[in-house]
Amino acid sequence: MRQTRILGVGMYLPEREVTNQELEAIKELETSDEWIRQRTGILSRRFVSEGESGTDLAVHASREAIDNAGLSPDDIDFVIYATLSPDYFFPGNGCFLQDRLFADRTIGAMDVRNQCSGFIYSLAMADSLIKSGQYERILIVGSEIHSTALNFTFSGRDLSVLFGDGAGAVVVGPAPNGHPGILASALHSEGKYAKELWTEYPASAHHPRISHESLDQGRHYPQMNGRMVFKHAITRMVEVSHQVLAEAGKAVAEVDLLLPHQANMRINQMVASQLGIPEEKVVNTIAWTGNTTAATIPICMHEALKQGKLKENDLVLLTAFGAGFTWAASLLHW
Ligand SMILES: CC(C)(COP(=O)(O)OP(=O)(O)OC[C@H]1O[C@@H](n2cnc3c(N)ncnc32)[C@H](O)[C@@H]1OP(=O)(O)O)[C@@H](O)C(=O)NCCC(=O)NCCS
Repeated sequence: MRQTRILGVGMYLPEREVTNQELEAIKELETSDEWIRQRTGILSRRFVSEGESGTDLAVHASREAIDNAGLSPDDIDFVIYATLSPDYFFPGNGCFLQDRLFADRTIGAMDVRNQCSGFIYSLAMADSLIKSGQYERILIVGSEIHSTALNFTFSGRDLSVLFGDGAGAVVVGPAPNGHPGILASALHSEGKYAKELWTEYPASAHHPRISHESLDQGRHYPQMNGRMVFKHAITRMVEVSHQVLAEAGKAVAEVDLLLPHQANMRINQMVASQLGIPEEKVVNTIAWTGNTTAATIPICMHEALKQGKLKENDLVLLTAFGAGFTWAASLLHW
């Protein structure tokens, strides 16, 4: 059976950098650079400017990934777009991206709604589609705009300091003969915790979907039980990492690089330490990106390549945890 390989990687962050000091200056937020730095490891993040959409970010990241693969948009035959912050309620962002990148070709485009695990879920789907022979070159893009949904007052300070905007993309296709490609993927969800990290409005579950009352109550902002998410994230990311290693018949000591989701530096330090993976084998971007949800792992991959840390034949472990709860891991032979 043929195997799947990542052929190219791209990323894009909006130009506007927002430092912790800038957030500290928002009086109603009652936060500080020191608190954010110590509790999360974040120093700055990027926010879009007025008029810049998630699709705009995705276009930049996708172009770089396609170019980096040595391909042109004409070579792509399917699009998977992972996001929790689509430009509109419907249609999905895959359609907007199809129009921007492949306007003269009606290739299939689908959205994946799996929050911080969205990229790994998408990669696992793409892997199956390549292995089955249905497609030859799939573009996967994770793109998020959080800044337009954050509550920059005291009641939203736990969340508003954590998130950033950005996009990351990869192109996948068949691996050369004999190349092991993606060795194993594992995907999980536990919906009983759905409301521990969620956005309640607007929603088709409500009549009407949004109201003056819900707006006045700030129920269109994301809500999170931070401590609970923190604890579950560590346990599940470690557990699912062991699962993919076992499925692939590999030992932790064989892992060359860990590219974890970026939600909190302390989560990643604990995940690496519980797995027994030394710091020098971990790439983190959270200091300058914040949490960019589905865009995070391809951004991290891009950074690893840029730093020269991700090399041919490396054994690479990806793991993520997020709202849903959902969590996932993938083990790749690079
Ligand atoms: C949100 C998070 C950073 C909070 O860190 P924490 O160490 O758990 O902090 P706590 O929630 O225990 O709060 C400690 C104190 O800091 C305060 N605090 C929370 N946010 C703050 C902020 N931005 N600035 C200053 N103080 C803040 C709290 O009000 C609390 O004050 P109190 O002790 O007077 O009650 C952490 O829980 C976290 O990262 N959770 C997971 C986030 C995540 O992964 N989200 C996305 C899913 S992928």
